[in-house]
Amino acid sequence: MQNYLTSIAAYKALTTKLYNMKSQQKNSRRDFIMKSTLAVAGTVTALSIDWNDALAVSSVDMAPLFPGDDGAFKLPPLPYSYNALEPYIDARTMEIHYTKHHQAYIDKLNAAIAKAPDQQGKSIEQLLSSINSLPDAVKMQIRNQGGGHWNHSFFWQILAPKSDVVAPSGRLMEAIAQQWQSFDNFKTEFNKAGTGVFGSGWAWLVSDKNGKLSIITTPNQDNTLMDVVADKGKPIMGVDVWEHAYYLKHQNKRGEYLDDIWNVINWKKAMELYG
Ligand SMILES: [Fe+2]
Repeated sequence: MQNYLTSIAAYKALTTKLYNMKSQQKNSRRDFIMKSTLAVAGTVTALSIDWNDALAVSSVDMAPLFPGDDGAFKLPPLPYSYNALEPYIDARTMEIHYTKHHQAYIDKLNAAIAKAPDQQGKSIEQLLSSINSLPDAVKMQIRNQGGGHWNHSFFWQILAPKSDVVAPSGRLMEAIAQQWQSFDNFKTEFNKAGTGVFGSGWAWLVSDKNGKLSIITTPNQDNTLMDVVADKGKPIMGVDVWEHAYYLKHQNKRGEYLDDIWNVINWKKAMELYG
């Protein structure tokens, strides 16, 4: 319950921040904010209806969530240089991953939305949490490309140069210990899940409304915010296990990539997200 109330408080702060950005908001954005704010001010039931939106707004910085004034989603700034995660993630992989792969998801997402005028102006979370109701002609494109945009926007923020990394502590560490007894056990289980993803996908540490943690994997560019994904929850940490995330340095050795990535996980951000 404490985590839930903390989430509500954090969400109120975020909606206030959003109101202060009025000059950059379109009508659709205001509608979304109004709906969310009313949910916070209302009953728990009302909030739970908008839970995906509430979780998602606090999950990534504001820039990539909404399309720009021209209606197009934009590549969010990378919060560090391409070589900042060396030697665990090499600079060339980071550059290609960010400038080519992530940009391609955005370009294709924008192309799909251009074909569906009713979807224009919506936040990426609004799109991903209502895939079932999207027009058939763009449903899979928005699921795959929109998922790619959200997932990578999240991923850049959940990584950090090793010199900036702090060990997980506080409530998040307590929850990890409660679920897996030790951080090492958690790492083992997470790596097992990540290496077990067949083909391309993601491994996530997610929290439910009560703060209970779990490790979830999703195929392709799916994530736990999507209405079409059975395992829902708030992403606290996530790792891209597509080969494009590690092939130049680690070739086909996904396990070695997963071993390395623990050196550059931004636990400060993860702790902020967990609350
Ligand atoms: Fe990727």
